[in-house]
Amino acid sequence: MKNSNRGCLITLEGGDGVGKTTHIELLRQYLESYGLDIIATREPGGTPFGESLRDLLLNSQLEFDAEAEMLVLFAARAEHLKRLILPAISSGKWILCDRFTDATFAYQGGGGGIPFGRIKELERFVQSTFQPDLTLLLDLPVEDGLARIANRGGNVDRFEKRDLDFKNDVRQAYLRRQEQDPGRIRLVRASNTVEKVHETIVEHVAQLLARQNII
Ligand SMILES: Nc1ncnc2c1ncn2[C@@H]1O[C@H](COP(=O)(O)OP(=O)(O)OP(=O)(O)O)[C@@H](O)[C@H]1O
Ligand SMILES: [Mg+2]
Repeated sequence: MKNSNRGCLITLEGGDGVGKTTHIELLRQYLESYGLDIIATREPGGTPFGESLRDLLLNSQLEFDAEAEMLVLFAARAEHLKRLILPAISSGKWILCDRFTDATFAYQGGGGGIPFGRIKELERFVQSTFQPDLTLLLDLPVEDGLARIANRGGNVDRFEKRDLDFKNDVRQAYLRRQEQDPGRIRLVRASNTVEKVHETIVEHVAQLLARQNII
């Protein structure tokens, strides 16, 4: 039976081209089949203010360091939480978010060299103890993600322009996060077919639905 009290936040994480957007759409369809109200959103972004900051962050003409990136990301996140995520969860909606705070640990921490401890200070300031109910980490060798993006076409943004070492550091930091919090962050091997990856995602999400007394 549908639990109408509180919604949940599910975040999808992983490097460029691992399949986050693809699987958010499939997961939305799966969750809607249980009659749940779904909001798909993304970080940076999710509010008009956040989307403006996203444009600024992804603008490949601008130069600024990882500290500035981190501060801007958390500014966008504070607004995203206050105006969209927390009210939606309170009203029983389920949020699917394309990247969240684990991405800051991976990109500005692992890639940009900011110690996890410093990021945790801002996480606590902005989120208090709030965490996603479930995080799906789509893991794929960096080169495979880049090949998928090349096939997909389109422009390359400021993060996609970074070198392979940076992207491998990001991947390793994501894996380290997963090891530190395996209950919340589930590792999904993203090199399988879309159907297989979706099946794995559904297995993890079904556990959350069961915990919420929805199935
Ligand atoms: N399991 C898969 N096998 C092969 N190709 C895939 C798979 N999943 C997604 N793709 C394709 O790879 C490309 C990248 O997928 P998608 O855009 O979902 O990734 P993303 O993680 O959202 O990327 P970005 O980080 O750029 O937003 C798309 O063209 C998609 O169709
Ligand atoms: Mg995407």
